[in-house]
Amino acid sequence: MKIALGCDHAGFNLREAVLNYLNSKKIECLDFGAKELNNDDDYPDVAFKVAYSVSEEEAGLGILLCGTGFGVAISANKVSGIRAMACNNIESAKSAKRHLNLNVITLGGRFVKPEEVAGILDAWLNTEFEGGRHLRRVNKISLKDGSVLSANVGDKLGRVVIFNHPLIQHKLGKIRDAETSSVQFRELLREITGLMVYEITRDFPLEEIEVTTPIAKTKAYAIKGKKLALVPVLRAGLGMLDGILRLAPNAKIGHLGLYRNPETLEPVEYFCKLPSDIAEREIMILDPMLATGGTATASISMIKKHGGQKISLVCLIAAPEGLSRVQKEHPEVNIFAAALDERLNEHGYIVPGIGDAGDRIFGTL
Ligand code: RB5
Repeated sequence: MKIALGCDHAGFNLREAVLNYLNSKKIECLDFGAKELNNDDDYPDVAFKVAYSVSEEEAGLGILLCGTGFGVAISANKVSGIRAMACNNIESAKSAKRHLNLNVITLGGRFVKPEEVAGILDAWLNTEFEGGRHLRRVNKISLKDGSVLSANVGDKLGRVVIFNHPLIQHKLGKIRDAETSSVQFRELLREITGLMVYEITRDFPLEEIEVTTPIAKTKAYAIKGKKLALVPVLRAGLGMLDGILRLAPNAKIGHLGLYRNPETLEPVEYFCKLPSDIAEREIMILDPMLATGGTATASISMIKKHGGQKISLVCLIAAPEGLSRVQKEHPEVNIFAAALDERLNEHGYIVPGIGDAGDRIFGTL
């Protein structure tokens, strides 16, 4: 794991202690300076650099130093996906990690002595995030903070992305409307899924190619031999297939048949047919509703049983309960949703939700 480090002039006195600590633990440091004391520097400049490095997953975590630890924390928290706080003692560092999964720790050079640095950083790095209700709360914070939201930034955890792009939100409003016909519903679901693909494919590697334009030869890029498998969960997941296939027509398609027992709300498997080379493919499980998480976790387990490894779950609407369950049982899986709704009702339906997606797609209301 890499840790990004930044400081201003008033945190400069702690910089060497942090560098020594990282060195002693053989942790690679992405050093954003200041490498020399400059009494005129402004902490937001370096705080944003470190925060973006963590938010964009160049670094797994960040450390920021200023006079109090406060200014850099406030600045870093402006960046999507960042949870930064001043931890000027060991107990704060432990609590902040346990409850907030703090991904940027900040220290105040006026409050912390260089010899206290190692203890605080040890406490932060070696304390486990408790998850559970704290994960639900952290997810709620993340939902507030940007256009694309990553609740989890770190080595082991998959990304959680809730889209609040205006186009997606506009179409979501229409799809929620009980008056929307099945014809419109299907088209909207296709469109929303197609828009989500943009973010879902963000990490796909590129390779350099050469192209001859009408004017000259130039360097260009192509997606590097990425093999995709789309796995809609029958039947509602079928409604999301076309939106992705239009942009990734060579993807192989698997099918999973699971239904929810209306009494226990637990999934029951009745069909599974996956591409034979599923182990090498980048897998997207498609299911519009992530409600209790029962179907999603069972689908992921089924795919893992068949050798699938690189798995993302793509849904339209997620409930906090389902999101937490998938994160707990399959923490490395990426989760993409167009909305994170309030809760489940006593029948296991998402509130406010969209009703039963399968019935609305296929007109079986
Ligand atoms: C700089 O003098 C100081 O204001 C800054 O380092 C920090 O303490 C702000 O919170």
